[in-house]
Amino acid sequence: MIRLETERLILRGWEERDVAPFAAMNADPRVMEFFPSVLTVEETRAVYDRLSAGAVAHGFHFQPIEEKASGEFAGFVGIAPVPTNLPFAPAVEIGWRLPVAFWGKGYATEAATAWLDYAFNTLGLDEVVSFAVEANHPSRAVMSRIGMTQDSGGSFLHPALPKDDPLALHVLYRISRAAFTTE
Ligand SMILES: CC(C)(COP(=O)(O)OP(=O)(O)OC[C@H]1O[C@@H](n2cnc3c(N)ncnc32)[C@H](O)[C@@H]1OP(=O)(O)O)[C@@H](O)C(=O)NCCC(=O)NCCS
Repeated sequence: MIRLETERLILRGWEERDVAPFAAMNADPRVMEFFPSVLTVEETRAVYDRLSAGAVAHGFHFQPIEEKASGEFAGFVGIAPVPTNLPFAPAVEIGWRLPVAFWGKGYATEAATAWLDYAFNTLGLDEVVSFAVEANHPSRAVMSRIGMTQDSGGSFLHPALPKDDPLALHVLYRISRAAFTTE
């Protein structure tokens, strides 16, 4: 399981003690504004099991970030293979979700930059993508801050949602190893 450190964060594997704060984050409508619904504790447990298993299978996945100063669970950031039903698969995506108490501190950007470094300089990937609901400007801002650029021809309707759902339209961002290492 990958463990990385940044100035203010520890990026580590999932542990049982993460389930309660993970469930609290996923039950917060502010955090889940751009998802179809908040999650029940049972649904969070299923996601926890899926992400933990993914980390074992691939060696990396969306993983917890821990605030060094407090030792608290500060959400998850990580990289993962994109679902095979998305139009740009196969690819590796980078993603994030933080509890509201940890917004506005630069933590998503700090952790994501460490993950990109790992993706390009340790795993040797050629490219990492990210996608979000078009209206999710905070997430798109993280993408821009870590050096990703929008693939203007890459916008797509998420196949898991009805075509007329307000959350269906997604934007796609990309970053290549060359772009990351020359930043
Ligand atoms: C997307 C999400 C992680 C972005 O959080 P965020 O706090 O805006 O992003 P960062 O952690 O990179 O922090 C950047 C902010 O911290 C501020 N900041 C404060 N101290 C900072 C520091 N020391 N270093 C860097 N930035 C700092 C920045 O100015 C910026 O604030 P601004 O947007 O008002 O300019 C958060 O909104 C979230 O979890 N949303 C819900 C889940 C979600 O939608 N996930 C994405 C699905 S695609």
